[in-house]
Amino acid sequence: MKTLLTENEIAERIAQLGEEITEAYRGKELTAVIMMNGAVIFAADLLRKINLPLYIDCFSASSYENDRSTGKITVRSALKLPVQGRHVLLIDDILDTGLSMKYAVHYFLELGAASVKTCVLMDKMLESKQFEHADWVGFRIPDRYVVGYGLDSGEYYRNLPYVGVLTD
Ligand code: IMP
Ligand code: MG
Repeated sequence: MKTLLTENEIAERIAQLGEEITEAYRGKELTAVIMMNGAVIFAADLLRKINLPLYIDCFSASSYENDRSTGKITVRSALKLPVQGRHVLLIDDILDTGLSMKYAVHYFLELGAASVKTCVLMDKMLESKQFEHADWVGFRIPDRYVVGYGLDSGEYYRNLPYVGVLTD
C-alpha cells in the first residue's frame, strides 16, 4: 500500500472545506446527503466542521460492481427525509466517471430541492467526465484506484485512516 493522502492532510483540508461550506450556506436550511457507503467516513468528519443547523440523510446509488464502473446507476436506498424546498449538499468520497454524481444531482432536483451542490473528498483527473465540477473538492488526484478513508476494494479497506493506492 502506498499512501496518497495522510490522516493529517485529510484533516486539515476538511477543516478548510467545513469553513467554506459554513460561509456558503449561512442563513439557509441545509440538508446534507451522504452518498453511501464510500462517503460515510469523510462525511462524519466534514459534517462536524460545518457550523450550521442541518439535517443529515443517506442515499445509496451505485455504478460500481467489483471495483469496476458498470456505466449504469442503480438506486439501492432512497431518502428518509423530505427534500422539497431544501438546500441539498451531496457529499461523496470521489468523483470518477461522474456518472453517480450527475444522476444524483438530477434525482434531487426532480424531488424539488431548492438547490443542489456537491462536495467530494477527491476528484480523479480523467480526460472526460459525465460531471465536470463539484462545488467543493478536497484533492485532485491521478487516475488510480484508491482505497481507505471510506473507499473500498471488494468492501475491504474502508476503515483505513488514510487514502492509499494498492500495490501488488
Ligand atoms: P463514478 O460514478 O464513476 O464517478 O463513481 C463514483 C463512485 O465509485 C464513488 O462514489 C466510489 O464509491 C466509487 N469509486 C470510484 N473510484 C474509486 C476508487 O478509486 N476507489 C474506490 N471507489 C471508487
Ligand atoms: Mg460511492
